[in-house]
Amino acid sequence: MPIIIDGKLVASEVLKDLKEKTRQLKEKKNIVPGLALMLVGNNPASKVYVNSKRKACEDLGYFSVVEHMPEDTPEKKILELIEKWNSDERIHGILVQLPLPRHTNELKVTLKIKPSKDVDGFHPENFGRLVIGLPGFRPCTPAGILELLKFYKIQTYGKHVVVVGRSNIVGKPIANMLFQKAPEGNAIVTICHTAGGDIRKFTLLADILIVAAGRPQFITPDHVKEGAVVIDVGINRIDDPASPKGYKLVGDVDFDNVAPKTHAITPVPGGVGPMTIAMLMKNTFLSASGELGYEA
Ligand code: GUN
Repeated sequence: MPIIIDGKLVASEVLKDLKEKTRQLKEKKNIVPGLALMLVGNNPASKVYVNSKRKACEDLGYFSVVEHMPEDTPEKKILELIEKWNSDERIHGILVQLPLPRHTNELKVTLKIKPSKDVDGFHPENFGRLVIGLPGFRPCTPAGILELLKFYKIQTYGKHVVVVGRSNIVGKPIANMLFQKAPEGNAIVTICHTAGGDIRKFTLLADILIVAAGRPQFITPDHVKEGAVVIDVGINRIDDPASPKGYKLVGDVDFDNVAPKTHAITPVPGGVGPMTIAMLMKNTFLSASGELGYEA
């Protein structure tokens, strides 16, 4: 029987630890971590995410601000609000929920966020810090994957990790994090993606297979080596007439058929998903406590 990696459990442990550290930071230094959240438009999934992030702040005793702006908000207004938050001392982290409406330039918005408050880790300065091995904010989902591996004592040293997917928010950063000369890195990393045709010749070599391809149940047992660790980052809705909602959530891995071959595997939902918010809260704490070494 494989180990089913329990993201809800690990996330709750991270949050419990942060709650205590937050209490101490307030007591010793009178600092309360603060997170500003921006939502533009009415994307239903984005509303749910932003609300969960706000609630996580409340649970930990963080200060939070939520600005919900209409779909047709001019880009200039978005940039002005970020500018205001950049210089607000109560705010240690700024998160603009993506995707933004089509008339706004996401890169321009990302670049406006001060790197020392970029708790999503999307600013090119933070991506550069990651690549050259400097401290900085690491994107939350990849950071959550490292936390899961650590919790389950899955070693990465010298292991062959294959990453399927090359997005800026998962594939590229997780690959960079895992090959770094660092205790949680030191892996041999291969990145492949769906433009490569049949990728089984790569995935079958993986000791640890990380899948962020955005394709439902794309990874089947014939992609996976016996005894591998499989981390599934995908969240896809597929039709399910048997469910009252008419759909169900599945990952990028065909879980039922792949799981028996693995040493350990993340389920969807309940695997990587719960870690993302926990790591956002951790990044906000690190920003407030000044542990990352940014110039003020
Ligand atoms: N939309 C989907 N995932 C994310 C995320 O991690 N951060 C932000 N800002 N927007 C998202």
